[in-house]
Amino acid sequence: MNKIIGVIYGDGSSPEIVKQAVQVLDTIQEKFHHQFTYTQIDMGGAAIDKYGDPLPEHELQKCLDSDSVLLGAIGGPKWEGLPGDKRPEKGLLKLRAGMKLYSNNRPATLWPQLRDASPLKSSIVDKGIDFVVVRELIGGVYFGNHETFIQNGEKVAVDTMPYSEHEIMRIGRIGFDMAMKRRKKLCLVDKANVLDTSRLWREVMHKLKKEYPEVEYSEMFVDNCAMQICKDPSQFDVIVTENMFGDILSDEASMITGSIGMIPSSSLGEGTRGLYEPIHGSAPDIAGMDKVNPIACILSAAMMMRYSFDAEKEAQCIEQAVHKVLDQGYRTFDIYSEGCRLIGCKEMGERICEAIKSSN
Ligand code: IPM
Ligand code: MN
Repeated sequence: MNKIIGVIYGDGSSPEIVKQAVQVLDTIQEKFHHQFTYTQIDMGGAAIDKYGDPLPEHELQKCLDSDSVLLGAIGGPKWEGLPGDKRPEKGLLKLRAGMKLYSNNRPATLWPQLRDASPLKSSIVDKGIDFVVVRELIGGVYFGNHETFIQNGEKVAVDTMPYSEHEIMRIGRIGFDMAMKRRKKLCLVDKANVLDTSRLWREVMHKLKKEYPEVEYSEMFVDNCAMQICKDPSQFDVIVTENMFGDILSDEASMITGSIGMIPSSSLGEGTRGLYEPIHGSAPDIAGMDKVNPIACILSAAMMMRYSFDAEKEAQCIEQAVHKVLDQGYRTFDIYSEGCRLIGCKEMGERICEAIKSSN
């Protein structure tokens, strides 16, 4: 195949992981005789420094002209003081909305090699952790009205959380379809005891569930879900939820599997063009130190193969290579445990590339 891949190197320690993920793509390209052409795109802090805008139209256009986009992470203390609409995060939100990526898929899977890295007791971990958070990505409070004004002599800030039926319907369908391909369990997570939006989510999901009689459907309040994820994560298969709850729960879910440095994500809309990014942040505190874990970004590249390019063999080849390197005991500092071999970001990437080359 012949594909144009947009690459956003990002801020902080992100360029280090993206570099390794691009080398993995290069290795795949060679092994499977594909042609990948990379377009470098500026977004986030790097774009603010260069253009004074976290995602100028011309950079968004480059993403829309790509077959898919690989991203590291953006943001950092350097841009912290900027007003809301000038911050690096605004570029990411504009990118997600501009590419119409309403469906964000964040798997929480325990790697058997990393059991000891999970903060949970082994009696809980032994029951298995393998679920997916399907997060609505371009609606809700992230995209409602935001304003700060003066009322009765003090500042008042308001963020609204709108959801319409069609927005819920399309992500709900993704959740049900995903459950059908897995263990056929879907849990809607919301706050229906308080929020109108949550009650609308339930209404729409009830209509939808009639089309999926095989799926065991349940509902859970988000506060309880946060607790259940630590108490008994084995109960979950697919969780579908609104934007902000999904943001929070997916961080929690990643932690119980050992490290946020291991979790990739895919974001898709109607077509096959997606955005692939680790769920972690830009880790500015370890930038330039060759410490950051490139695995989440590398696994995001594997997801790109699978979901955007329908290249299952290539995706599995990358995932198997990660397994192999972990089996050999190599670890970056975030997933290190006693008796393992501590290596840096670059060496982890190189070892994964070597494992790809030597696989059959
Ligand atoms: C994520 C991040 C973003 C989000 C931030 C950087 C805007 O936390 O991808 O989870 O909240 O969606
Ligand atoms: Mn987040």
